[in-house]
Amino acid sequence: MDRIRIVGGNELNGTIPISGAKNAALPLMIASLLTNETLSLENVPHLADVEQLTRILGNHGVDYSVNGRREEQASIYARTVNFTAGNIVDTTAPYELVSKMRASFWVIGPLLARMGEARVSLPGGCAIGTRPVDLFIDGLKALGAEIEIEQGYVLARAPKGLVGNRYVFPKVSVGATHVLMMAASLAKGETVLENAAREPEVVNLADCLNAMGAKISGAGTPRIVIEGVASLSGATHRVIPDRIETGTYAMAVAMAGGDVLLEGARPDLLETALEVISRTGAEITPVNSGIRVRRNGSGILPVDVVTEPFPGFPTDLQAQFMGLMTMAKGQSKITETIFENRFMHVQELARLGARITLSGQTAIVDGVSQLKGAPVMATDLRASVSLVIAGLAAEGETIVNRVYHLDRGFERLEEKLSGCGATVERLSS
Ligand code: UD1
Repeated sequence: MDRIRIVGGNELNGTIPISGAKNAALPLMIASLLTNETLSLENVPHLADVEQLTRILGNHGVDYSVNGRREEQASIYARTVNFTAGNIVDTTAPYELVSKMRASFWVIGPLLARMGEARVSLPGGCAIGTRPVDLFIDGLKALGAEIEIEQGYVLARAPKGLVGNRYVFPKVSVGATHVLMMAASLAKGETVLENAAREPEVVNLADCLNAMGAKISGAGTPRIVIEGVASLSGATHRVIPDRIETGTYAMAVAMAGGDVLLEGARPDLLETALEVISRTGAEITPVNSGIRVRRNGSGILPVDVVTEPFPGFPTDLQAQFMGLMTMAKGQSKITETIFENRFMHVQELARLGARITLSGQTAIVDGVSQLKGAPVMATDLRASVSLVIAGLAAEGETIVNRVYHLDRGFERLEEKLSGCGATVERLSS
């Protein structure tokens, strides 16, 4: 299993290209199930999760091709990938595939809407809480689906098609918003989703669906209105830049010091996080080509954060921010409100000398003047990159084990960081 070796202490200086967003690419790929024409997605990141979903979609009958390149040459940035679901050959998403990636559960929406049935395994995914699927089930039932749970599978049927309705999410869910938006696009009549997720990835999906002929308004607000259409067509659509990758590298600079251009980043996708990072003492400047992040020799200031649905501080940056706060000049409080078990990185950060105490859903971080390198274990996608951030500033060598978590969500991490002067390398085994 590959490991990442980091020798801390170097400033970061240079340019880091920001990749297309994993969390936007995945639902966009799934949207290809809604039409028998080709959906061309530009700026698709080369990540393990994208490859895995491509395999899952292939199982349903989706063909894919990478523009003008053979697959083995495709590990370049900003690929255009074409997905064509000419014929859906299977409406079952089996446990072996869905358990590897939670987002693949989302195929339930398009399969049901287009084929009138779907049989999708209950998901597995990151070990960051129980992550139930009740909102998907209630929402699809509101659109007229009949749903049963049988032997670990969700069986959804709508032989006469889905019918538009009003559904109020009892809790904000990104995935359930994606799924209901896709399903309602092919339902009869109007659907109104209230208390919908407002994440930029929801807007990116709505824009794509509209380019395919859907009639969606209000994405990015809590109230989304979808006028169902009889069929959708192919389209060409661009994946937005990854706001989580952007925030992660901004925090890496805030931690290690230096001056880095995050090329292609869009500040409007992460205003709250950028504001928090600037309060830690880093200088954040939006420029034409992206975002410039600088921190000179002055110390890191402690800042309290609470994770919230967009536009609040994202849960997907919580672990990284904790990494940054481990060397702040004073105490900070980090409260997680989205997932109940998203503090696995605390134990590992402690191995580097961090002082963190947990009190319910809040981590109290007492900044130390210096972390010390150590072997650590990646436990989930975002947690693992918090260890990289800490390792960049720790004295000596940090080895991050189980980096397959990193490969799920960060494209060429070691190359991007070492290109800016960090000592980061992959040890293959
Ligand atoms: C997406 C992101 C993930 C991010 C999360 C929150 C992708 C591929 N993943 O995950 O990186 O951390 O949004 O921003 O885009 N919930 C229920 N019932 C449900 C569905 C969700 O109770 O039926 C709960 C979850 O357990 C969680 C909360 O709602 O506590 C938010 O989860 P949700 O927004 O659905 O996260 P995902 O879409 O899975």
